[in-house]
Amino acid sequence: MLDELCDLLRIPSVSADPTFDGDVKRCAAAVASSLQQAGASNVEVMETPGHPIVFGQYHVSDEAPTVLVYGHYDVQPPDPIDLWDNPAFDPIIKTTPKHPEGAIFARGACDDKGQMFMHVKALESMKSSGDVPCNIKFIIEGEEEVGSSHLDAFLEKHKDKLSADVVLVSDTGIISNDIPSITVGLRGLSYVEVEVTGPNRDLHSGLYGGAAPNPINVLCEMIASLKDEDQRIAVEGFYDDVLELTQDEREDMARAPFNEAAHRESIGIGAHEGEHGYSPTERMSIRPTLDINGIWGGYMKEGAKTVIASKATAKVSMRLVPYQDHDKITKLFTKHFHKIAPPSVTVKVTEMHGATPAVTPTDSPAYHAASLAMKHTFGKNPVPIRSGGSIPIVASFERILGLKTVLFGFGLDSDAIHSPNEHYGVFNFFKGIETIPHFYTHFARLHNED
Ligand code: BES
Ligand code: MN
Ligand code: MN
Repeated sequence: MLDELCDLLRIPSVSADPTFDGDVKRCAAAVASSLQQAGASNVEVMETPGHPIVFGQYHVSDEAPTVLVYGHYDVQPPDPIDLWDNPAFDPIIKTTPKHPEGAIFARGACDDKGQMFMHVKALESMKSSGDVPCNIKFIIEGEEEVGSSHLDAFLEKHKDKLSADVVLVSDTGIISNDIPSITVGLRGLSYVEVEVTGPNRDLHSGLYGGAAPNPINVLCEMIASLKDEDQRIAVEGFYDDVLELTQDEREDMARAPFNEAAHRESIGIGAHEGEHGYSPTERMSIRPTLDINGIWGGYMKEGAKTVIASKATAKVSMRLVPYQDHDKITKLFTKHFHKIAPPSVTVKVTEMHGATPAVTPTDSPAYHAASLAMKHTFGKNPVPIRSGGSIPIVASFERILGLKTVLFGFGLDSDAIHSPNEHYGVFNFFKGIETIPHFYTHFARLHNED
């Protein structure tokens, strides 16, 4: 199983960069053939205006409930490649303090090829033991890391084909290998690029400096003003729709184990920061954020060049919480950014992508099935947790197909997803393959009792 996963990891299916389009296609075909080999039928690589979606199914009986398994085979770009200890698409197994049984190092190992592949192998093992308790449908997409922009239309178009009772997704994490958890909330996202233009060309900084507006200086000042002294986001109306948690809910959340000092140490920071009045865990999950993801302009090569650039640019992401609407937030941000621009410059705000926040129920047969399955294989009840990440399609499944999702992930926050040296524990991979069949057993029973 590990060898087969490594074969998938060798395909650089980077969805963001058109140079890799051929590899993305090849990866879709490889996923399709692994589903076929696992015993799925009606396996298809379905074209979209973007990267293809792989479909497959396993039908046991019209009486059994149907589970729609979603995953993604596309990966983030490996950059910065110099910081990988081993090439990003040449998987290697090494031990780490958190993974004494070894971890597979490669881009996509945890996010999401390793986790998606657990479902393929779980089907294969259920089939060989002769006990598949539910009907299963798979949709494995190739555009998650670029915002899943063609998935909504795909869901609309294939409503019947995708009909199911619940969606099961392994693309999140657990607290640690001995503290299982189930994610019950994801943040949404509004992502924009801002450009500030000053003079009509790059200028000599001696001849013009002091009087000509410097767009880099201006952009920095504008960005600095986006948060107040309490680190609250200063965009007018930004918090209007934010769901405030009750004191009880906050106390519940605080019960999930979190070691602040160990967390600081694991990312090498002297102190946490963020919105006043909230704990680090809350700031990372139930509160919205505004972060600059990239900023550039002017002279960036070797040596010094005395210049005032004509333009400066930044990428800005805002993580959103229920009930913030990403379109509305993007509009509010755009309006605010124009408003705070001094008359010496012009600004342009370009929308990149958006995602709707999601909360998933903890009182459903599917949640109970997931909880019992983890109890069985970890020996402990999983803790419900809110994650700070985003999976745009969770809200789409609910809106378009009317389906709730169970976020049944097995990664660790320290697995370095999207970073150099991404990895996925061998323990986690096999724990997932072991746990998933128990989900189906419990879900088949609980769903029919419901
Ligand atoms: N699998 C992640 C999201 C995630 C990871 C959620 C861990 C919870 C725990 C997903 O692939 C991802 O990276 N999503 C993007 C969404 C964006 C590209 C629209 C994100 O969160 O930045
Ligand atoms: Mn993912
Ligand atoms: Mn990701």
